[in-house]
This record gives sequence, C-alpha cells and structure tokens, in this order.
Amino acid sequence: MVPSNFFSFLLVISLLASQKRATAKDDSSGFHGNERDALLALKATFNNSFLDSNWTGIMCYLNEKTYWYGIQCFNGRVTGIILENMKLTGEIKEDALVNLTELSNISLKNNLISGKLMKFANNPKLRNIDLSSNKFHGEIPQSLLYLNSLEALLLQDNNLTGPIPGFNQSSLKSFNVSRNNLSGKIPETKTLQSFGFTSYAGNENLCGPPTPILCNAKNYVSESNSENLSSKSNGSHFIEILVVVNVVVLVVILFLFIIYYKKYKKLKKEMKAKNLWPKDEEHDSTIADRAIEKKAIEKRTPEVERGKLVFVENNQPRFELDDLLKASAEGLGKGNFGNCYKAMLEIGQVVVVKRLIDLKPLSSEEFVRQVRAIANQKHPNLLPLLAYYYSKDEKLFLYRFAAHGNVYNRLHGGRGTRDRIPFRWSSRLAVARGVARALEHLHQNTRSQTTAPHGNLKSSNVLLDENEETLISDYGLTSLIALPIAAQRMVAYKTPEYQSHKLISKKSDVWSYGCLLLELLTGRIPAHSAPPGINGVDLCGVGPPRGERGVDGGDIRS
Ligand SMILES: *[C@@H]1O[C@H](CO)[C@@H](O)[C@H](O)[C@H]1NC(C)=O
Ligand SMILES: *[C@@H]1O[C@H](CO)[C@@H](O)[C@H](O)[C@H]1NC(C)=O
Ligand SMILES: *[C@@H]1O[C@H](CO)[C@@H](O)[C@H](O)[C@H]1NC(C)=O
Ligand SMILES: *[C@@H]1O[C@H](CO)[C@@H](O)[C@H](O)[C@H]1NC(C)=O
Ligand SMILES: *[C@@H]1O[C@H](CO)[C@@H](O)[C@H](O)[C@H]1NC(C)=O
Ligand SMILES: *[C@@H]1O[C@H](CO)[C@@H](O)[C@H](O)[C@H]1NC(C)=O
Ligand SMILES: *[C@@H]1O[C@H](CO)[C@@H](O)[C@H](O)[C@H]1NC(C)=O
Ligand SMILES: *[C@@H]1O[C@H](CO)[C@@H](O)[C@H](O)[C@H]1NC(C)=O
Ligand SMILES: *[C@@H]1O[C@H](CO)[C@@H](O)[C@H](O)[C@H]1NC(C)=O
Repeated sequence: MVPSNFFSFLLVISLLASQKRATAKDDSSGFHGNERDALLALKATFNNSFLDSNWTGIMCYLNEKTYWYGIQCFNGRVTGIILENMKLTGEIKEDALVNLTELSNISLKNNLISGKLMKFANNPKLRNIDLSSNKFHGEIPQSLLYLNSLEALLLQDNNLTGPIPGFNQSSLKSFNVSRNNLSGKIPETKTLQSFGFTSYAGNENLCGPPTPILCNAKNYVSESNSENLSSKSNGSHFIEILVVVNVVVLVVILFLFIIYYKKYKKLKKEMKAKNLWPKDEEHDSTIADRAIEKKAIEKRTPEVERGKLVFVENNQPRFELDDLLKASAEGLGKGNFGNCYKAMLEIGQVVVVKRLIDLKPLSSEEFVRQVRAIANQKHPNLLPLLAYYYSKDEKLFLYRFAAHGNVYNRLHGGRGTRDRIPFRWSSRLAVARGVARALEHLHQNTRSQTTAPHGNLKSSNVLLDENEETLISDYGLTSLIALPIAAQRMVAYKTPEYQSHKLISKKSDVWSYGCLLLELLTGRIPAHSAPPGINGVDLCGVGPPRGERGVDGGDIRS
C-alpha cells in the first residue's frame, strides 16, 4: 500500500518537473508549441514556396534571434508577422491569430489574401495592423474595438462591407478604410472624426462627416438598395446608360449650340442693319446689372468653394452643414430631380432638404447666379428658398417646411379611407387663387419669353403650410436641370406646343395651370403629371381621341 502510494507520488512529481522543464525549454528555444502551430497553419494557407523552404526549424531563439522570414520575436514569443508584397494567396482563417497572444505587429499588406478579417479578441497587445491591398471581404470585426493599444489600422483597398464599428481608442493615430465597399453612417466618435476624408474615400455608401455626403439621403438610398439587390443592379445599369446618354446629348447640345450661335449672329446682323436691335440704355443697364451681379458672386464664391451652407434669407436662424448632418431626418419621397428630406434641427427649426441631381454642368458662378435668381422671386405664395449648398459632389436646396403637405396628396390621398382630409370647394378655390398669384408674380419678374418661369407646375408642387396658405415649390428649376431630363420630367415639356413644335414659353405655365384647375375641379389625376407607376387620365386633351377615351375610362372607374 505504502510503496505503491509512494511510487505514484514520485511519478507525479517527476511528470510535473519534466513538464515544467519542457515548457521552459519551449519558451526560450522558440518551440512555443501553439504559436508555432499557428504559424505553420498560416504557412499552409499561403502555400508560398519561399516560406515553405524558410519557415522550418527553430522560429526564434531567446530575445533577439529570428530564423523565420518576417517573424518578430521577443523572449521566444511571436510578437510580429510582417509579410509584405509577397503575392501571398489563400483564404486566411478567422481564428488564425487566436493562439498568438503576444502579437503586437501584423502586416500582410499588398498580397492577394482572401477571406474574412481575423478575430482579434485574443491579441490585446496589437498596436499596428496593416492588411491593406488584399482581397479581404466581410465586415470589420467588433473585436478590434477592444484593442486598447491599437495605433494603426490600415484596411484600405480590400472588399470589406458593412458598417464601420465605433472605434473610440484614443491610441488610434492612423486609420484608413478607403476603397472598400463599406456603408452606413461613420460613427461620431472623437477618434473616427479625427481622420480626414481620405481615410474613408472610395466607399460609395458611406455617409456623414467627415465625408461630404449627407447621411440621411445616402442611407435612404442604400437602404432601398440593400432591400432590393435587383434594383441596385438596375441602378448601376441605369448609371451606365445615363453616362452614354449624357455623352450623346452633350455632343448634340454642342452641335445645336453652334447652329444657334451662327443663326443668332446672322439675325443680329440683319436686325442691326434694319435698326431693330436694341442698343443704348437697355443694353448698358444689363451690362451694369451684370457687373453688380458679378461682384456679388465674387464675394460669394469663396464661401461656395469651401462647401458651406449659403443663406439667401436674411432674417432667419443660421446653422451649419454639420447641424444639418446631425439633424434627425425623414424622407419625404423621391422628387423628379432628387430626393427630399425633412430635417429637424437641434435648434428646433424644421427645413426641407432637396438634393439636386441631373443638373446641367454649371460652373459654381453660373449655379450661384441661377440660385440667386430663384431666391429673388419673393412672394407670399412662393415657397421661399432658405439656403443652398454647393460642392462638386453635392448640391442641396433648403426650403421652408410646409406642414400640411401637398395638394396632390390632399386631393387624391386616402381615397375611400378614413384618413382622407376633406378638401372643400372653398379651399380648392383658395389654392387656385394662390397659385395664380404666385404664377403672375413669377411671370412679371421674368423677361425671357422663351422659358417657362415655373416650368413644373403640378399639384404635387403646390404645398399647404400650417395656416393652409398655398405655397408653390420647384419654380425656376428649368435653368438648372439638364435639358433631356427636364424634357422627360417637367410639366412644361408635356404641353401641346412642345409636343408639336418644341416650343417652351410663358404659355407653357398657363397650360399647366389650366390642367391644375381641371385636376382641382374633377379630382382626377392627370396623366402628364402623375407620379411614376400611377396611371392618370388625359385630362388636358393633348390628343383629342385619346382624351375622350381617358375621360371615359375615368368615368367607368369612379
Ligand atoms: C490554439 O491552441 C489550442 C491548444 O491550447 C488548440 O487546441 C487550438 O486548436 C489552437 N487553435 C488554433 C487556431 O491554432
Ligand atoms: C500549392 O501551390 C502549388 C503550386 O505552386 C499547387 O500545385 C498546389 O496544389 C497548392 N496546394 C494547395 C493546398 O493549394
Ligand atoms: C529565412 O530567411 C531569412 C532572411 O531571408 C534568413 O536570414 C534565414 O536564415 C532563413 N531561414 C531559414 C531557416 O532558411
Ligand atoms: C513592431 O514593428 C516595429 C517596426 O517594424 C518595431 O520597431 C517594433 O519593435 C515591433 N514590435 C514588436 C513588439 O515586435
Ligand atoms: C467584392 O465582393 C463582392 C461580393 O461581396 C463580389 O461580388 C465582388 O466581385 C468583390 N470584388 C472584388 C474586387 O473582389
Ligand atoms: C469605447 O467603447 C467601448 C465599447 O463600446 C466602451 O466600453 C468604452 O467605455 C468606450 N471608451 C471610451 C473612452 O469612450
Ligand atoms: C459591394 O458589395 C455589394 C454587395 O455586398 C456587391 O454586390 C458589389 O459588387 C460590391 N462592389 C464592389 C466594387 O466590390
Ligand atoms: C488611404 O488610402 C488611400 C488608398 O490607398 C490613399 O489614397 C489615402 O491617401 C490614404 N489616406 C490616408 C490618410 O492615409
Ligand atoms: C424588389 O423590387 C421588386 C419591384 O421593384 C419587387 O417586386 C420585389 O418584391 C422587391 N424585392 C424585395 C426583396 O424587396
């Protein structure tokens, strides 16, 4: 009994001792088993002939000596893996680093490594991570948030998706996720906001500062994209088609312009010969006007180039683009020339933000001049432009918010349900009157006979404010929107004159007004201004036979 006990005791003691010796030997001589296995697994992943021949035998010895290419060691533990520009391939495993607990540096930059980013939860000592220029995909792991010594995180030029986690380590001094496929709002941590736009560039669906892209707008788009992938691919096709169309249109416009200019010169010559060309005062005064305008613009331009909000209304609270980016927002829907958002600022103001897309290629001065012209149209029945934002990538208009929505929704919304707000005849008449007054004002303040001062008059552009006052919006955009887009979408281009003779004039607005009156009277949706996907009736009789059919159809339905 006693001897057997004694023997087993001895056995345990000797086993423990030998184990202790073995681990001590492992540490000092570079045979730290788990770490060596982890590196060998990496070697197998990369399947690189140089590493296959070099990563053999002892990996590191005591404090300094390293035998394996690209491996940094300290006290026999692996502290760094530096394998750059080696055309390494293979799909790295997510748990590749879990046993390398002393790791402080890892750089695999400029290889062809694929797979998801590794889990970093077991590497609390990591300081420098450079995985740039590879083929990593998937999301940026949350485990990176818990690396309290992290100084550099370089992930640019991969194929990473999803949002950016809210890095808040004050140690993080170098950060780059540009040229991936990341999306969503950049978290507003002090750390992430301290890096410039170049750290984030090249991720189409990232938004919010420090990018110049307005978040709610972008989110809105990306949300609808992620919901529906087919529509996204349609979208990219659409962009390709748009580019081609744009090029073609540009050539055509240039051609037309040359013809126009030649004709204009000829006409001028002829008229001058007949003494019909206006000379003297009017000409001089427009030159003086131009000079004043130009000075005003020159004063504005620096502001414009910095990409600031420029206020055109004087007596109104000022705020910055940042405030707008911070504001909570809700989409008001897709307009013809960009989406609209209602933004509730922290200072309590509510504004409508309209993102302008499909603009003519205007220089910032031209843009400012056109915007000023729009802003100068002041009338109680015109929705005032409060401010605008101009940068290369983004053009925004800020309008007052009209609390009671638009007349289209009032007329046609909630049909046959309890949500319907009754639209009395007296209110309809008030709308007709308000629109007429605003239109008259626009027309009296527009000299040109060959533009439509409003250009896009329809019930969805007639708004009602909290006092049920009529406000018309979207006026004057004809001067900003690229012609082919305008021709497709603006009401002025649906007129019989335009359909048959390509004529646009003040009368185009009058026609649109007539259609609006018919819409108010009949409560039918006119086909020419119906929102996409909704079939209207041919209320305004562009073609008589079709018109009759349309009205008949309407009768049957009602
Ligand atoms: C890490 O080490 C443990 C043993 O401690 C082992 O079971 C595991 O397989 C290792 N993991 C990796 C990914 O090397
Ligand atoms: C490793 O690369 C060689 C050629 O360089 C190839 O023949 C072999 O199949 C690869 N092995 C693995 C596991 O990918
Ligand atoms: C691996 O490569 C490094 C540097 O090229 C060299 O110093 C080292 O001796 C090599 N080790 C082996 C085992 O070949
Ligand atoms: C990390 O890499 C840097 C530069 O390559 C080096 O100076 C430092 O000693 C490395 N850290 C460790 C713990 O190996
Ligand atoms: C990026 O990943 C997506 C799928 O997530 C894939 O369709 C695309 O080809 C990848 N791009 C590159 C450059 O690897
Ligand atoms: C950083 O974020 C983590 C996780 O969200 C949190 O636990 C920690 O308190 C934050 N640290 C600072 C300095 O904000
Ligand atoms: C971005 O990601 C989406 C879906 O995750 C994918 O369809 C698309 O191809 C990716 N874009 C690039 C440039 O890799
Ligand atoms: C981030 O990486 C991109 C692409 O490699 C580069 O153009 C940009 O300058 C980098 N930004 C910073 C801040 O290092
Ligand atoms: C995608 O859009 C189509 C029509 O645009 C719709 O029929 C379909 O239900 C949508 N799919 C999803 C997943 O939203």
